[in-house]
Amino acid sequence: MNRKPFIAGNWKMNKTIKDAIELINGLKRNLSDIEYVDIAVCPPFTALSDAREILMDSNIKLGAQNLYWEEEGAYTGEVSAVMLKDVGCEFVIIGHSERRKYFNETNEGVNKKIRAALSVELIPIVCVGETLEQREQGKTFDVVKDHITGALTGLSNDDVLKLVIAYEPVWAIGTGKTATPEQAQEVHVHIRKLLSELYNEETAQSIRIQYGGSVKPENIKELMSQPDIDGALVGGASLKLDSFVEIVKGSS
Ligand code: 13P
Repeated sequence: MNRKPFIAGNWKMNKTIKDAIELINGLKRNLSDIEYVDIAVCPPFTALSDAREILMDSNIKLGAQNLYWEEEGAYTGEVSAVMLKDVGCEFVIIGHSERRKYFNETNEGVNKKIRAALSVELIPIVCVGETLEQREQGKTFDVVKDHITGALTGLSNDDVLKLVIAYEPVWAIGTGKTATPEQAQEVHVHIRKLLSELYNEETAQSIRIQYGGSVKPENIKELMSQPDIDGALVGGASLKLDSFVEIVKGSS
């Protein structure tokens, strides 16, 4: 199965509008001729509108980092799927471990958010992954299974084919401690096996699974050399022009 590599930058809570514009202009200058990798940036909500202006007609796509599942109404501080679509997003990160940890996000909430995104044709990048404690207790596969089955509850085969999944071991996020390519590959295979059991083998082989957690220019090639790693969700290294450009270029 030919899955096109997909590199996305998750900027998290970083960058003013001015800094975002500078970085996005730089990315556009450096990456406009790349056709062999899908590229996306996910700036904070405040920079999405300006980012869209710059990225219009560009090969770099726009994503958001979160949404709320209701369509509209009295939900102070929240942003809906329609609003993200309106501002030009094609992707939205859902279920990031930081949201699970700091904002009490649950599998049920993740499932509702995925449905809301799909209802307006936003592509969810669904994050799953274990903590260090869970890994040390030998629970990695169980946790990933819980996250995947919880996130996908009630979704049809057609729905699931639209998703991107990101395996992000919590212990590798922002720690400089990358999972080895073999460790990541092992979990990606497990995720594909689950998808095959829940849906079918063709679906499992079609869905792109990114790895996330201390991805850097120095480790992207090795990670991408694994057969089941289809791209990366990059945090810290997506905030600097040179490192994100190198990661994209090193990913094919
Ligand atoms: P780092 O690349 O900074 O480890 O973050 C990974 C991440 O959480 C991407 O969503």
